[in-house]
Amino acid sequence: MSLAFKVITSFSSIFTATYSTIESLISSPNQETNPQQNHAFQAPSPTDKRSPCPMVNALANHAYLPRDGSNVSLLKLIQAAKEGINLAPDATLIVGLKALQTSTTGSWLTFNLDDLNKHGVIEDDASLSRKDVFFGDNHSFSPETWETVFKHFRGLEKIPLEVAAKARKERVEGARASNPEFNLTDDQNRFSILETCLYLMVFGEGTQGNARTDWVKVLFEEERLPFQEGFKRSSSMLTLGQILELHKKVEAVGGTGLAIKWRKEGREYK
Ligand code: HEM
Repeated sequence: MSLAFKVITSFSSIFTATYSTIESLISSPNQETNPQQNHAFQAPSPTDKRSPCPMVNALANHAYLPRDGSNVSLLKLIQAAKEGINLAPDATLIVGLKALQTSTTGSWLTFNLDDLNKHGVIEDDASLSRKDVFFGDNHSFSPETWETVFKHFRGLEKIPLEVAAKARKERVEGARASNPEFNLTDDQNRFSILETCLYLMVFGEGTQGNARTDWVKVLFEEERLPFQEGFKRSSSMLTLGQILELHKKVEAVGGTGLAIKWRKEGREYK
């Protein structure tokens, strides 16, 4: 058997296995995992790898993903997001395929969580809870940065979509004003909006927004799923269609309008 044939055969068997597992995840009943028994929170050890994403980190801190944050396959990511927060496989794929582009594992099928620190793939400027790469650390939780966002939510029981969108927009404008090397491409801006949609979706009321403020706070500040505060993963799968619907709404309040405004003002918007 030629080498090329062997390579093609092994790739096709990997894809077939991934595909059939995704199919079975889509059609499987929404099994409840017991967060207390199988998925107790445990803060990472100093050698465990973590990312700039509070949700991915939380999934590892609850052992939906490997606790050491190493060698995560797309399949594992899809299973973890389904089990932990009932996110549909196609929604996870959108971010997961980008994640593979950051891989330093030596296999293009897996990535380490700290590979996600790579600037310009998913990680970008104007994160809600991380400093821009220009200031030296683009991946650790930054209480000062988060405060510029969370101040909009304080005192609210739930975060309305408009408030979340405005908080994101203000954070982008603040980063633009303070970072001499600020850069946010249209694609990165879309991903940044997506991140706001994701927390609204997981902790809110469908496509309406209204995420529970205390749950959002726990995710960002402790990288923990707020089970003990009463969070239960949605009983129905969170679909890509719903996320895209939310995306339109968040964008309408504080998304591409920002780019248009900057262009009108003659400000650089890369
Ligand atoms: C499953 C695959 C996922 C991957 C690979 C991923 C990766 C990332 C990365 C690299 C960032 C940093 C972007 C930046 O610079 O701001 C990020 C941010 C973020 N992610 Fe994820 N993510 C995933 C899923 C999710 C899910 C399901 C949620 C649901 C709540 C989520 C919530 C967030 C939020 C809220 C941020 C913004 C953090 C901030 O701006 O401080 N992510 N994600």
